[in-house]
Amino acid sequence: MAHASLKVFDALPAKERWFCRARLELAPLEAVAAKASGNDILDVGCGHGVLAALLLHEHPERRVVGIDPDERKIGWANESVGKNANAEFRAVTLEALAAERPASFDCVIIADVLCLIARSTWPPFLDAARRLTRSGGRLLLKDAENDGSWRAIKALWQERLMVHVLRRTVSTGGIGFATRPELTRYVEGAGFVVDDIESYARGYTAPHVLLTAHAP
Ligand SMILES: C[S@@+](CC[C@H](N)C(=O)[O-])C[C@H]1O[C@@H](n2cnc3c(N)ncnc32)[C@H](O)[C@@H]1O
Repeated sequence: MAHASLKVFDALPAKERWFCRARLELAPLEAVAAKASGNDILDVGCGHGVLAALLLHEHPERRVVGIDPDERKIGWANESVGKNANAEFRAVTLEALAAERPASFDCVIIADVLCLIARSTWPPFLDAARRLTRSGGRLLLKDAENDGSWRAIKALWQERLMVHVLRRTVSTGGIGFATRPELTRYVEGAGFVVDDIESYARGYTAPHVLLTAHAP
């Protein structure tokens, strides 16, 4: 049965509703949402807002800001989850938001976004995430890992299909997965302390990995 949080997408056209449902089935977003902490949460690269809907479901105390460069997706998010007064969706860059609202979030979540960004821009991107996180706040970085498995090869081709053929996903400079040590190094380089990094691939066809860190 579909997760109750998906109800907010009933207002969207069938194709977009299907996309939101598929997103929840193909990625462990419920596990990511379960690790969120605090009341002020930033969802970086929020897309349609599937994760934001999960975060707000039965959590009236939370406020979620979702940002994405894809104006179409921000439009869908505003027409669905965005009806919740505790949700705010904007087409603004992470760097611009960091300048506007430093140290404003208890939890910053980056789910399946880093793999769509040029590796050379990861340091300023993660620096901006750090500046947005309050001291003691949490970073949840969900991505697919380059573990050399068939899952990684399949996931890479799937992303290429979504970006270059179907044009459903916006990439900002590249498509590629990192290894766990690489992810850890980049996150630590931005000033976070990594607490945990574990695989969530079981039961999925992509090598999902979730890194949890905190801002000292
Ligand atoms: C695979 S989707 C994941 C959407 C959402 N996080 C989720 O888990 O359902 C990747 C998203 O990253 C967004 N994106 C691409 N480049 C970005 C960037 N530089 N900053 C923020 N988001 C970006 C895309 O527009 C897309 O919505």
